[in-house]
Amino acid sequence: MSSLQAPRGTFDVLPADAGRRTALEEHARRILGAAGYGRIETPTFEATDLFARGVGEATDIVQKEMYTFDDGGGRSMTLRPEGTAPVCRAYLEHGMHKQPQPVKLWYLSSFFRAEAPQRGRYRQFWQVGAEAIGSAGPETDAELILLLADLLQAVGVRQSRLRLSSLGTAATRREYREELRSFLRAHEDGLSPEVISRIDLNPMRAFDAGDRRTQETMRDAPILLDRLAPEDAEHFAEVRRLLDDAGLVYELDPTLVRGLDYYARTVFEFTSDALGAQSGVGGGGRYDGLIEQLGGPATPGCGWAAGVERMLLAAGEQPAAAELVDLFVAIAPNGSHQTAFKLANDARRAGLRAQLELAGRGLKGQLKHADRLGARYVAIIDDQMRINLKDMEAGDQTEVEPAAVIPTILRGSRVA
Ligand code: HAM
Repeated sequence: MSSLQAPRGTFDVLPADAGRRTALEEHARRILGAAGYGRIETPTFEATDLFARGVGEATDIVQKEMYTFDDGGGRSMTLRPEGTAPVCRAYLEHGMHKQPQPVKLWYLSSFFRAEAPQRGRYRQFWQVGAEAIGSAGPETDAELILLLADLLQAVGVRQSRLRLSSLGTAATRREYREELRSFLRAHEDGLSPEVISRIDLNPMRAFDAGDRRTQETMRDAPILLDRLAPEDAEHFAEVRRLLDDAGLVYELDPTLVRGLDYYARTVFEFTSDALGAQSGVGGGGRYDGLIEQLGGPATPGCGWAAGVERMLLAAGEQPAAAELVDLFVAIAPNGSHQTAFKLANDARRAGLRAQLELAGRGLKGQLKHADRLGARYVAIIDDQMRINLKDMEAGDQTEVEPAAVIPTILRGSRVA
């Protein structure tokens, strides 16, 4: 084995895995396309500033996880760690606000985060994402959540659960964090030292604390959902009504925090109990302030992204349908390679799945190989340039005029 290996936290997609990924892409295209989402692809790297401003200077992603480099001309670039900020950049750059709103976009792209690798967590990974920009209505939030639920179901994700919350506006959150800090300071004797040390920096962490005493104290803590401004509370109630009407089951989780700073109002996350520690399959929410943050006009937006590898892990092993072969062209000793090559090529042009012997196997080995490939027919070119067509299912073999080989297979008729 060569000492060269794929970098830590990355992986190769081999043909055996590619079938399931292609099937997943087809589900995404069908489900999102039917709802009016158009495909977008943005560059693999962007100006570092886009993520610093978009995702947030204080987030783990920007602080610790970005692959940042100098582009050779003194400009700082970063391999994209997520897709929402780039899509908003593209929306602004291409004047999409002049199109009918909302502009609905979806992507299937690779992303890069310098995280500690483990099962379901990689340094290069793929996401299917959907963004609806230009609509503030709660129907947009509910539509997006239902589309992700449909995708997860189509892919076969097992034991999935949806957690839902609303973060209100940045101003509400600021006030709420102050209130929470006061609560925590007043109850320090019921909190772990670690939680106490983070009161100033990140008081929300107290809700995730593992120790029992802190958990008990936090039962009486103020909840952000109870502090929403009336219009935010009404927006959230409407999202919930629409999901209830659609029969989608969710858990309200007032402590749901996402690792990106741009969210306002609705946030949600699908997890799967079929996964280990990295149980987040997909998540997202509303980001009404993001486009303004990037220098554009105030524009509402909402979206989600789901990890391709996590979805496939949570779906478990499902063999992809084998790619069958209509025709395998075999060459008998001293048979014409040129005739064989032409036949395989003509067959493909006629729309058949055709393969040619390329490894110099003996005839017996070629027939075995054709069988392994699941070929319906094998054409054997002999040393007289004759073609014998073997029906692999029926087992019979007949000499066929060269011009009749392809029509015979296309008709799917048994060789007489
Ligand atoms: P995110 O929660 O950071 O959101 O990532 C979305 C999904 O990507 C996760 O639920 C997970 O399945 C997958 N993922 C994240 N990091 C990794 C990793 N290191 N390895 C494997 N899979 C991973 C966003 O990225 C937002 N842009 C979502 C969004 C779109 N919000 C609004 N619009």
